[in-house]
Amino acid sequence: MLIRSRRSSDPLSSEITPQSVYLRRRQFMAGGAALALSAAMPAVALQTRDNPQSGAPEWLQKPLREAVTTAFGDGEKPAPYSTITQYNNFYEFGYGKDDPYRYSGSMQTDPWSVTVEGECEKPGTLTLEDILRGQTLEERIYRLRCVEAWSMVIPWIGFPLADLLKRFRPLSSAKFVEFITLHDPEQMRGQRSAFSTIDWPYHEGLRMDEAMHPLTILAVGLYGEVLPNQNGAPLRLVVPWKYGFKSIKSVVGIRFRDSMPATSWNDIAPHEYGFYANVNPDVDHPRWSQATERRLPAGLFGSNRIDTQLFNGYAAEVASLYRGMDLRKHY
Ligand code: MTE
Repeated sequence: MLIRSRRSSDPLSSEITPQSVYLRRRQFMAGGAALALSAAMPAVALQTRDNPQSGAPEWLQKPLREAVTTAFGDGEKPAPYSTITQYNNFYEFGYGKDDPYRYSGSMQTDPWSVTVEGECEKPGTLTLEDILRGQTLEERIYRLRCVEAWSMVIPWIGFPLADLLKRFRPLSSAKFVEFITLHDPEQMRGQRSAFSTIDWPYHEGLRMDEAMHPLTILAVGLYGEVLPNQNGAPLRLVVPWKYGFKSIKSVVGIRFRDSMPATSWNDIAPHEYGFYANVNPDVDHPRWSQATERRLPAGLFGSNRIDTQLFNGYAAEVASLYRGMDLRKHY
């Protein structure tokens, strides 16, 4: 994985954002009923949005519009839409931070289906429409911390991964879950590149209890609108207490497994990128410190560096998953 010092493409906080309306709406809600709600409980339905989800297929517009807000991320300031959608890692479209924004636009994401197999009673393939039928969508504002030591706050729209996994009735032999991204070199220029070091398709994995954890979601939207291709449309994993590379994009395959699956970055450099990849300021990457991070967007006069928190600040919710484990060994 690459790491760079500040480049001209790094967004500045002074960027004008089309999301000001969205933020005003959230402020309005935060001042009202939403404040009274607990973090785990969906709150009131969002107001009808000022802009319909014009890019979304028709069947997705209603669930996006009816997404419920939650207390996750209250008090956090989401990065501007332009930052979240123009500073990305999606190596299927190139290694530059703006390559996904520039080259993913024509990827076809509708229709889309996900095949679920392995250690479960009811393997099968579902279209995204099937997956979302009857599924309440929630807004979750999460911090995303990349292993490259930058981070941002992102308002996702999604649903608990556990809701989907349970439908396939995992067996007791299912100890891990593997995830696979679309493999389509015709649409994904990075997969055609002779310089790529990744063994496509991009693949990731979680332990079963991590996959079933209530913080783990599948996202289909961002800032109240359909997920842009560069952010992993139409369906991407979000695991907020782990380094961003675990949050695999454009998922087409899920496999319940009885043993730990191989994962893309671990395959490339096992001493640098572990399977667990929990955000941890005390365990440095062999080539750089993980004690601090650049919170994007950068300030006008500096890089906006902040201290990194254990489990990206979600320790109260997830530390118990790793009780008794040596986090230096299981990095
Ligand atoms: N998923 C796929 N399929 N391909 C990728 O290159 N990059 C990962 C992750 N998911 C990646 C991926 C990395 S390194 C990060 S930091 C996050 O996506 C970035 O998510 P974002 O671009 O939405 O901020």
